[in-house]
Amino acid sequence: MSHIRVVVVGGGQAGFQTCAALRDNGFEGSLTLVCGEGILPYQRPPLSKGYLVGDADIGLRADSYYPEQRVGVVTAIAAAVDRPAREVLLDNGVRLGYDRLVLATGARPRSLPVPGSRLDGILPLRTLADADALRKALTGCRRLVIIGGGFIGLEVAAAARKLEVDTTVVESMPRAMARVLSVEMAAFLVSVHRSHGATVLLGRLVTAFDGDVTGRVRKVVLDDGSRLDADLVVVGIGVVPNVELAVSARLPVDDGIVVDSLLRTADENIFAVGDCASFPSPHTPARVRLESVQNAVDHGNSVARTILGGSAPYDAVPWFWSDQHEVKLQISGISTGHDHTVVAGSLDAGKFSVFCFRWGRLVAVESANRPADHVVSRRAFAAGKLPTPEEVAAPGFSLKEFAAP
Ligand code: APR
Repeated sequence: MSHIRVVVVGGGQAGFQTCAALRDNGFEGSLTLVCGEGILPYQRPPLSKGYLVGDADIGLRADSYYPEQRVGVVTAIAAAVDRPAREVLLDNGVRLGYDRLVLATGARPRSLPVPGSRLDGILPLRTLADADALRKALTGCRRLVIIGGGFIGLEVAAAARKLEVDTTVVESMPRAMARVLSVEMAAFLVSVHRSHGATVLLGRLVTAFDGDVTGRVRKVVLDDGSRLDADLVVVGIGVVPNVELAVSARLPVDDGIVVDSLLRTADENIFAVGDCASFPSPHTPARVRLESVQNAVDHGNSVARTILGGSAPYDAVPWFWSDQHEVKLQISGISTGHDHTVVAGSLDAGKFSVFCFRWGRLVAVESANRPADHVVSRRAFAAGKLPTPEEVAAPGFSLKEFAAP
């Protein structure tokens, strides 16, 4: 087992962690990491936060780590998988043989199909190259319009206000971060952004972009007919998983590459991890695809153990975080479909947690500047020791005391 050939496609956090965990757990075989971005793995979370204002380190490992750990890094795009031959075909013509293949192909920003969306000055944010382009464009930018009030949109808004750029966020849903947050937490975050001078428009759709004679964006046209001035636009309206390689290999795909609880595709020698993988989780009623560093790292660790002969199903508690102005937002669990919330702590002081319940069962805890709640709730989810809505609402409730062994 230890002398087989493992090829990992994708040099993001999940692909990197798969390689690191294999070596950390004594894997002696050959290990190749295919990096489509043409650079060594780096940390993505700072790109929409500190990196934009110039104070973040994005390094993951020194360049020397890869030769030291005998990880062969290939900078190329994997174009196809020849399953009968067990080979990955690269766009430079090279064929890489594998015994186990790990697809860590990640996701790419969703584009906005409206007239004018190809004008200069309309930028996505996902990669280091995107962040470098945005950082440069923010210098000298007078009016920034951000499309999408999700993780990317609100984090960029906070960075832009720090740089004193006039900033407007246009969100299509009636609340920000609706995909992941409760009404209460979303409203709080929007109020924080507004207090820092950003304009946040909710329930508004972009219908077009207008440019000047040089082809640069100048106006963002909304569905109520209003026209916002802009010399820079960031589009952060979600991501789509990169499943093309799996599709070409005729592996099942359903909003992500379909894997089982061992992160294995329909081909027992091919696995999928990170943002591109749709997997069964004991923490959600249906299979799920998660976009988070936690999930990428835990998937990498899990698949490495499986390749080395383990058989433990993936059951990590999902968690997420975001930094926006003075708010450290931390989320444990998955709030999708919650039907009841209980707020603990002080909204006025900006230190509170929203407990989200579905059919009376706690499914997520969202914490603003309450790191202890976050840490304890992750433990509570892992142990399955969960308070009822009545217990959380009772005076003097302490999650720490409740969850104590
Ligand atoms: N106009 C305006 N807003 C839109 C539109 C649209 N046409 N389409 C979608 N949106 C909004 C969604 O309602 C949502 O609030 O864009 C937001 C997208 O938020 P996310 O799904 O969180 O995606 P994004 O912010 O792009 O972040 C992508 O990057 O930071 C990582 O892991 C993080 O999953 C996140 C990923």
